[in-house]
Order: sequence, then structure tokens, then C-alpha cells
Amino acid sequence: MKIGRSERSAGYPVVRLRRLRRTPAIRDLLQETHLSVKDLISPIFVQEQLTKREAIQSMPGIERIPASEIIDEVQALSDNGIRSIILFGVPSHKDAKAQSAFSDDGIVQQSIREVRKHFGDKVAIITDVCLCQYTTHGHCGIVVREKVDNDVSLRTLTRVAASHAEAGADMVAPSAMMDGQVKAIRERLDANSFKDVAIIAYSAKHASPLYSPFRDVACSQPRFGDRTTYQMSYNNPREAMHEIQMDIDEGADIIMIKPALPYLDLIYHAKENTNLPICAFSVSGEYALIKAAADNGLIHEDSVVTEFLTSIKRAGADLIITYYAKKMAALLNE
Ligand code: PBG
Ligand code: ZN
Repeated sequence: MKIGRSERSAGYPVVRLRRLRRTPAIRDLLQETHLSVKDLISPIFVQEQLTKREAIQSMPGIERIPASEIIDEVQALSDNGIRSIILFGVPSHKDAKAQSAFSDDGIVQQSIREVRKHFGDKVAIITDVCLCQYTTHGHCGIVVREKVDNDVSLRTLTRVAASHAEAGADMVAPSAMMDGQVKAIRERLDANSFKDVAIIAYSAKHASPLYSPFRDVACSQPRFGDRTTYQMSYNNPREAMHEIQMDIDEGADIIMIKPALPYLDLIYHAKENTNLPICAFSVSGEYALIKAAADNGLIHEDSVVTEFLTSIKRAGADLIITYYAKKMAALLNE
């Protein structure tokens, strides 16, 4: 749509847009964007060998939980209407090969089984498929001669995805930004008779300083270098569309853009140019920014959370991963 002075404007009476803003009932009737609890996915951090819930300084209000607490956590979410979770594991063992990431009794695999056993298909279980929490160096892939080796990493990532599927995950979300990861995982899942397990591709995952609270929580800060050789530059919107196109070609079921709030242009563009469901990940730093301002009394938390999440939906996101899922659900249910 082009917005400019229209030819018929001359001589017409004032257009009174305020007519439709007059009362709450009228405003409700005309509301264009509707955020729903069904759009929201809640992250959960499960930590191996933890005995009780642990608060995290860099993300006030968010906790790492032991596997024994996962049923309670999912119950609390589902009581609020949130029926989708994304699991992040915090293992006790790290090594160069990320072995605890694909172990049968790994923390994520264990958690998936627990949730599945207790909730059956009432909850959609998504898992983050990456290596950074599991490697000693903290990179998302396997390091060979000081470099993150793409194709060697693919072998490990496919094992991780298959182990999550085996444990009962509904969807796996590869987030390592290795080239070909969606294709490799799709092939492995199909070969292992997990044809029904979907892939949410972290397609346009940007190298962003907004992940730092997450890395604190997940203990996944890289020990050397940074992630710019695999995560995208936020300067390159066309490259982001290329990443998305590649993931669609490789067999992704849902594409993701991450972070969310500073990337609404990309969400909008993806929505206009693809037909796949679009997931936006409103990351840890986005949460931390709101939280810090609210805790200092500078903004009203509930209103800002509502505005920000609605904006992400308005831009075109069908699904939103947010650390505010539970709170937003409670607000929507009021
Ligand atoms: C794992 C992963 C990260 C996030 C999601 N999956 C961290 C990273 O890439 O360093 C970030 C999530 C957040 O900040 O909330 N690779
Ligand atoms: Zn990673």
C-alpha cells in the first residue's frame, strides 16, 4: 500500500478516525492483532544433578530446575494455557565431543521422557539442538584445529536430534547454524523412522549480544573467539532470506528468526515471502532489558511485555518463544 495524499481528499470533511476509538467495546471490535496463549512457547532450563530450583542473577525471575521439578513446571504452564515448551539442557559433564548431548540418559532426553509420560500428547515438546552447553570450549559445533568444523559437527548434531526424537520430542530445533544441518537432521530422522518429528529451523539466527544472559544460565559462553563464523550478521537482511530459503529447501517445517524485537523487519519480510509458519525467538537479553527497567520502576512491566509481544505477532510471527510466556498467559487470561 502506498500512503500519500489521495485525490479525493480535497473538499471532503475531516475523516473522524476517533469515532472508532470512542469506547472500549468499539475498540475491541476493531482490534486487528490478537495475541493468544496458543502462540506462546516457554523455554525451560533443566540442569543435571541439581537438587532444587536455582535462581539466576542475569535473568531475575527465571530458574534452572532439576529434572524432578519438570512436571510441576509444565503443569504450572499448562494451567495458564501454555502447552508448548522448548527444553534447554545444562549438563554436568562437558567434553570436546559433546557426548552428554546425545546420551540416552542425558538431561534433555530424561526430561522429554518425564514430560511425555506424564502429559502424553497434551504438551508439544520442542528441543534445542546445539552443542554449546555440552562442549568444553562452548562453541556450537565440534572444533577441529581451532576451527568449528561444519561437517564433523553435522554428524554430532544429527545424533543429538535423533536421541531427542527417540526420547519422544515432537519437534527438534537445530540452533548451531551449521550449513546443511536441517537436511542432515531430516535425513537422519527419516532413516530412523522419526518421519513425524518436525524441524523448527533457527534459520536467521544472528550473532547477538542479547544472548549473554542465556549463556550465563546455560553455561555456554565460548571459551575462545565468538560465534561470528557461524551465526549471521545483523547487517545482512538479504542473507537472512537466503538462510530461510535454504532451510525451507532442506526440509524445515517451521522457520525461526532470532532475536525478535530488533528484527521485526525480517519477520515481516519472511511472512510476505514464504508460506511456512514463522517462529520468533524473543531472547534472554530482550527479557533482561524489560526486567531491569521494570525492577527500577522506569516502566510498567505488564504493559510493556504486552506491547512488545503483540508487536512481534503484528510483524508476522505465528509463534513466539518468550521467557515471559507464563506471565503473558496469566495477563491474557485475566
Ligand atoms: C544455543 C542457543 C542460544 C540461544 C538459543 N539457543 C545461545 C547462543 O547461540 O549463544 C539464545 C537464547 C537466548 O538468548 O534466549 N546455541
Ligand atoms: Zn549453540
